[in-house]
Amino acid sequence: MSILILGGTGLIGSRLTRRLHSLGQRVICFDLYPDYSAVADLDNVEIVVADVTRFEDIIAAIRKYDVERIVNLAYILPPESEERLQLAMRVNQMGMNNVFEAARLMGIRRVVYASTIAVYGLQDSFGDRPVLEDDHCYPVTVYMAHKLWNEFMAAKYMERYGMQIPGLRIANVAAPGRTKGFSAWQSKCIDELAAGNPFTVPSRRDQRLLIIHVDDTADLFAKLCLQEELNHAVYNSLAYAITAQEWADAIRAHLPDARITFDESAPDQPNIYNWSTRRIERELNVKISPLEEVIRRHIDEAHARREGEEERQARSANQLSR
Ligand SMILES: NC(=O)c1ccc[n+]([C@@H]2O[C@H](COP(=O)([O-])OP(=O)(O)OC[C@H]3O[C@@H](n4cnc5c(N)ncnc54)[C@H](O)[C@@H]3O)[C@@H](O)[C@H]2O)c1
Repeated sequence: MSILILGGTGLIGSRLTRRLHSLGQRVICFDLYPDYSAVADLDNVEIVVADVTRFEDIIAAIRKYDVERIVNLAYILPPESEERLQLAMRVNQMGMNNVFEAARLMGIRRVVYASTIAVYGLQDSFGDRPVLEDDHCYPVTVYMAHKLWNEFMAAKYMERYGMQIPGLRIANVAAPGRTKGFSAWQSKCIDELAAGNPFTVPSRRDQRLLIIHVDDTADLFAKLCLQEELNHAVYNSLAYAITAQEWADAIRAHLPDARITFDESAPDQPNIYNWSTRRIERELNVKISPLEEVIRRHIDEAHARREGEEERQARSANQLSR
């Protein structure tokens, strides 16, 4: 099947490209700022430099590659979404709608898109109980509101045109090399400790978190893309419900000499820390990967990335000295 991934060379997009490619699907990565290196080792993956805010770019890609399914991950994330308001409106609102409308016109019935845990707002609104997909949402940032509006429009397209447009509300994604976003410390923490550096967690040790690894996230997107029957419009992703201390302990189990401290003066972050994953587990028949395995893989990748970087630097230093 020919699958178009907008934002296909980004943090999640490049992992989803790998996952779908390994399942024998033909992947077309549509990205305005493609990271060619992220998928360079994969044959039969097309990269199209194009803009989700340009309707004609999407139509052209669908036509050229006979696209059958679409995943839209092209987005402006925080903090940029809160600072560059006009850009965020164009990419996150117009861009998403362009994708829905182009799919409708071209007869594509399945479009998958990324929503976020952030749509719910703060845990306080729900007390201490698990938050469910059918709960009312209370967005408090531009990013949260954009995602909720995307969900609203997806529901309209589904209702009016009989399309299937599932949104995945993703928990905080941990991925080697992740640097962007408020929750990036959960990834940086492993990257730095794997490099032998100390790390100060910018929160208290009892801070409660919901974390998913990028490969599990890609797996869920692949399933939402390929599974024929889906019964719902939005799904909470799988996630580890864990404290900052437990996250650190899981890393220390692999790196016993890791030097980790916490900022005990940090205010409690009142983000969602308790949610239900029952819907996605039942409907997609999925389970989260064991935490130990995920941390091990992340550490191995962090080592490999560092070695690759050191080799690149040595090569360019050599070339300069010639
Ligand atoms: N990373 C997380 O923790 C997380 C959590 C919840 C939801 N999400 C959502 O998942 C999706 C992907 O996030 P990510 O972490 O991979 O982000 P990312 O920034 O790594 O990827 C986004 C990609 O979109 C591309 N892009 C930006 N503007 C574009 C445009 N105008 N046209 C075409 N491409 C454009 C970028 O070049 C980039 O490759 C986003 O919708 C994000 O909101 C991410």
